Amino acid sequence: MLCLLTMLPVLDQIGRPLRSLRISVTDRCNLRCQYCMPEEDYVWLERDQLLSYEEIAELTTIFTELGVEKVRLTGGEPLLRRDLDRLIRLLAGNPRLRDLALTTNGVLLAEQAHRLHEAGLHRLTVSLDTLRPQRFRAFTRRDLHGRVLEGIRTAKAAGFHRMKINAVIIRGFNDDELPDLIEFGKQVNAEVRFIEYMDVGGATRWSMDQVVTSHEMLRLLCHRYGPIQSLQEQDAAPANRYRLPDGTTFGIICSMSQPFCRSCDRARLTIDGVWFLCLYARDGVDLKRLLRGGASREEIARKIVDAWQARMDRGAEERLQLRQRDILFAVDELRADPHREMHTRGG
Ligand code: GTP
Ligand code: 5AD
Ligand code: SF4
Repeated sequence: MLCLLTMLPVLDQIGRPLRSLRISVTDRCNLRCQYCMPEEDYVWLERDQLLSYEEIAELTTIFTELGVEKVRLTGGEPLLRRDLDRLIRLLAGNPRLRDLALTTNGVLLAEQAHRLHEAGLHRLTVSLDTLRPQRFRAFTRRDLHGRVLEGIRTAKAAGFHRMKINAVIIRGFNDDELPDLIEFGKQVNAEVRFIEYMDVGGATRWSMDQVVTSHEMLRLLCHRYGPIQSLQEQDAAPANRYRLPDGTTFGIICSMSQPFCRSCDRARLTIDGVWFLCLYARDGVDLKRLLRGGASREEIARKIVDAWQARMDRGAEERLQLRQRDILFAVDELRADPHREMHTRGG
């Protein structure tokens, strides 16, 4: 896709195009997953700083004029944001957007799936790390497992046919559930993606020994299913995809053991309008200040192009080089700037 300012693709310092934008629509969540939001309370973003749906749509229009074709709504938990279908309608009306997706924990999906589908949402990914209600409760501190399963089934009935299920695999927690999750995916016609546990902001209880690598996961699955075929695909999606002997496909997102930074075409916008060029970045670009300060579309576009063209980030690759790998941000750093939290910058 070409940038309307320069009529050329906007490329960063190592030739990566700006193609995908993840928009976190709220920093709140109704679960407390150990890998993301392990505490009960947080420093929340200030209410009057949050972008309105019109402001999000305006920034998205600028991004799509610069080449962005894919938008994913995330959170926190995006379905907590009131009348989200109104935002989806606004974004779905943007003709440059080829792919409009949403990542949810599924708790509120049964109530909203039909509305989201009617509003024009193309794709849905649901996080589901365990099939065991007791485990779910211990892990998320909420007794809502049944609601998530119901949400997935309702979404299928509402017309989301190519759903994905994300499961972060943590040693000693759910590393015995890989085949069960695959079988569940078959039942609900969703592709399961196993995710290596990442040392991102928010993961303050992370340690290397809890990471189950893609290699290990494949070994476990071969043991159960027999030979697994790797599907060699060229696109910049984060998952490596595989096929089981019975034809079922699944993915593994191996940001820890084999980062995909070299083909990373994504950036993320927080709900108070700060734009991060890497999941691991310490700081972002404040687009809301420009927007509310009366900057023109061209001025905002120029700022985005300049920042992207200067981009060198390879956060996950750089972390891989560390000899001693510990959590990314200490709790006091997260409290000092909540933009560093995974739930603020959108997973
Ligand atoms: P599609 O491929 O378009 O379906 O979306 P996606 O896989 O990017 O979206 P999803 O929200 O399901 O992301 C899956 C997981 O990949 C995230 O939860 C993260 O664990 C990881 N991930 C997403 N974006 C990044 C990124 O920019 N860098 C790294 N290292 N990992 C990421
Ligand atoms: N490691 C890997 N993935 C994470 N997510 C959040 N925290 C982590 C982490 N520490 C991702 C999961 C979840 C989505 C909302 O965010 O994929 O499904
Ligand atoms: Fe892209 Fe940063 Fe994620 Fe690497 S860690 S894939 S550069 S966002």
